[in-house]
Amino acid sequence: MKKYIFTLVSAIALIAVLQGCFRTGSVVPAALKPVLPDNPYNYKDQSTWSTNFKTTFDNSFLKSNHDLIDNNIATLGRVLFYDTKLSVNNMTSCASCHKQNAAFSDVSALSKGFEGKMTTRNSMPIINAMMTGDLFWDSRSHSVEDLVLKPLQHKVEMGMESMELLTQKLAKTEYYPELFAKAYGSDVITENGIQVALAQFVQSMITANSKYDKGLDNDFADFNAMEKKGYEVFRSAKAKCASCHIEPNFTASSFIQTELQFDPNNQVFFPPFFNGGNVILIDPKIEPGMGGGGMGGYGATSNTTNIGLDVVYADQGRMNGQFKIPSLRNIELTAPYMHDGRFSTLEEVVEHYSKNVQPHSHLDTKFMDNGSVKPLELSELEKQALIAFLKTLTDNTFIQDKKFSNPFKP
Ligand code: HEC
Ligand code: HEC
Repeated sequence: MKKYIFTLVSAIALIAVLQGCFRTGSVVPAALKPVLPDNPYNYKDQSTWSTNFKTTFDNSFLKSNHDLIDNNIATLGRVLFYDTKLSVNNMTSCASCHKQNAAFSDVSALSKGFEGKMTTRNSMPIINAMMTGDLFWDSRSHSVEDLVLKPLQHKVEMGMESMELLTQKLAKTEYYPELFAKAYGSDVITENGIQVALAQFVQSMITANSKYDKGLDNDFADFNAMEKKGYEVFRSAKAKCASCHIEPNFTASSFIQTELQFDPNNQVFFPPFFNGGNVILIDPKIEPGMGGGGMGGYGATSNTTNIGLDVVYADQGRMNGQFKIPSLRNIELTAPYMHDGRFSTLEEVVEHYSKNVQPHSHLDTKFMDNGSVKPLELSELEKQALIAFLKTLTDNTFIQDKKFSNPFKP
């Protein structure tokens, strides 16, 4: 009888454990140990970048930051990025919400945190983050180093309120002491070591190998008629896209960006990027939060702005419905769009700018004329061309790059 009860209890316990494992459905149990290459990947590799991008980058202060990346430290960062152990109950990793095949964004409007609660904003793609001084939708963080521990401690995202608990937990694993020793010469797990490694991995994620990037090198020889037209519309005074989403990173808060010149005859903004002209290099140490600027004809652009999504914003963003001007690189891969993921297609986004801009007391003046809303009123052809151009910003090597992939399922 005793034996029978014991078997029954064991069976119930086993079922309970199995249920625990499968309860979450979508969560694939991670392999126990990361599988890493014998020689670490080269996280400083620039071979896939366009010459034009590389030249601009190398001539900026970013070059020295990039040189600091260490392959063993970035490798540790890669493991940390994909490890669900970084959340308090082993349920989420950074990669749960930043998926490589979606250019490190999430495919749903809001993302599921460690306890199944949803984030209040759309997960952002990770795009040349080392080149921007404005991170998060409300631009509350100004450097990657500052940012990387925040999701770990976030009450919805990963719930790891005590970093001491995390260092103790990682010290007990089979692989972290060894990875820390390789990275820092000591197998002691420290909060700072976690922070630096995550930051280096995120900083190494540079995407600069799109059709657009190649176009910068060969005068857009491979662009078809629609893409060329779209690029023109993108820079036109009518659409104004380029005056906020500034090349070459298509965001207003890039440390490398070009001062657009306005050509009044053709009514287009002209980036002097091609001939190595007037490149603005903004050093965050000199000008914290500075960005945009120099938009001939339109005045300075701030890094966050209100694009009239709603008459009343449920989420005020930085303040008054102002949100970061997000990069448009890899935009084809990062649906749904906007801070709350309200649009599922680029067609809907373009339709917003063309027709649906809402009146708001803090609406960006680019969408106004004489104090009232002036939608862009783009033609069908202009809309289609814009979308064709936006798709030239996709970088397939970036989303397939093994050095950024999940080491727990190689
Ligand atoms: C549960 C989902 C979730 C997890 C887990 C998560 N993030 Fe995020 N991430 C988000 C959301 C949502 C945002 C936008 C938040 C906001 O603006 O308030 C974001 C924003 C970011 C940004 C800002 C990008 C930009 O261009 O401004 C970076 C970088 C980032 N996360 C990196 C990480 C790293 C590194 C980790 C792991 C330590 C991580 N995230 C874990 C959901 C998540
Ligand atoms: C006044 C500055 C400004 C102008 C002009 C502008 N945008 Fe934006 N754009 C933004 C801001 C700010 C957001 C984010 C808004 C939010 O989520 O609340 C955004 C978001 C987007 C997004 C979604 C990005 C994502 O990751 O979710 C796309 C796509 C986009 N814009 C394309 C365009 C196109 C195409 C044009 C020209 C027709 C344009 N933008 C003109 C400021 C601007």
